[in-house]
Amino acid sequence: MGNFSEYIRRNIYLCHMKKAYSTQYGSQIIGNSLDVLQSYPDESIDLVITSPPFALLRKKEYGNEDQAEYIGWLSQFAKLVYNKLKPTGSFVLDLGGAYKSGLPVRSLYNFRVPIEFCDNIGFYLAEDFYWYNPSKLPSPIEWVNKQKIRVKDAVNNVWWFSKTPYPKADVTQVLAPYSDRMKKLLDDPESYYTPKERPSGHNIGANFIDNGGAIPSNLLQIPNSESNSSYQANCKKAGLSAHPARFPSKLPEFFIKYLTEKGDFVVDIFSGSNTTGFIAESLKRKWNSIELDASYAANSSFRFLPKTLSEKDLLNVYFSILAGKEIPVMDFLMNGREVSELTKDFIHAEKLHFELSGKLNKAERSKLQVIEKAAAVLF
Ligand SMILES: C[S@@+](CC[C@H](N)C(=O)[O-])C[C@H]1O[C@@H](n2cnc3c(N)ncnc32)[C@H](O)[C@@H]1O
Repeated sequence: MGNFSEYIRRNIYLCHMKKAYSTQYGSQIIGNSLDVLQSYPDESIDLVITSPPFALLRKKEYGNEDQAEYIGWLSQFAKLVYNKLKPTGSFVLDLGGAYKSGLPVRSLYNFRVPIEFCDNIGFYLAEDFYWYNPSKLPSPIEWVNKQKIRVKDAVNNVWWFSKTPYPKADVTQVLAPYSDRMKKLLDDPESYYTPKERPSGHNIGANFIDNGGAIPSNLLQIPNSESNSSYQANCKKAGLSAHPARFPSKLPEFFIKYLTEKGDFVVDIFSGSNTTGFIAESLKRKWNSIELDASYAANSSFRFLPKTLSEKDLLNVYFSILAGKEIPVMDFLMNGREVSELTKDFIHAEKLHFELSGKLNKAERSKLQVIEKAAAVLF
């Protein structure tokens, strides 16, 4: 039985890439993006949008590279992305800032990234965006809360790279709502505005045209406070931890609408909980999401499943994916939900593995808890 357990684990965790689940427009892939990216034809992707593990100082649950090595590590992915993007394609990278270890001074890594990508890979920086998250908690605690010598860091860099100076882009797809003042001007220009020349030299007349919205700026104000999604509700119901560093759906939504059209191909190379794939699906873009961690990839399927699904069905989906079975999400909803022998074998093997492992760390103990619960609910 020990050998069987090892066999299953090797097949699941050491395989290079595997489809976790698929939907009408896309697929979640479990694997290392360095391998998966190589499998695409050159110049086949319209948009890569992603948020890599950041070079933070405190090691996060999802793993980080040291800051010194970070740029080299990230560049390997960027070189492949460059080859796989269409000439009209874009690469959008969300990067949080970081402090230097033990000091109230900032690391420059997030600024070195565009310099490296443009100087040495061949990308252009089409525009620099800033994601302002008003709901971000104060950090680092030492400089912000305790010593009170730094303010809270609430802005991420979002670098938009392109292969040519003219990537596909259409601002009319992402117009922002007009301000109240602008609405009044559009309704009744004479009462609210007298034409005059501005100090800047801009000559603004009284002919305002309703373009359906205002041109957005490169400061995107998006709170990261989504709490009502199927993903969170289903993770909670199944007793699984949600991904700790998800981005809000409005962020990929903005760039997917802005930089692609229906039917285009969007890829997230560090997909985590698959926010990108979910939004791409809703916007009828083809998509692939790639995630190294099989558990994150497996429970990201919960985004596509209704909140009304039972704990048993959710655990069945999760462990079927971990057992190596690809779940066509629509089929699962329509057809039988029997727990397969493969899934049962996988759960047995995992349980045995942890039971024979001796002393378990915190993460392993919580994995074992989920496995024991699944065994109780599914068998
Ligand atoms: C910041 S998280 C992305 C979160 C995602 N934007 C979301 O909304 O859930 C980065 C993810 O990259 C994954 N990762 C790290 N190295 C990877 C690699 N070589 N290939 C694929 N995924 C990787 C990590 O497991 C982690 O889940």
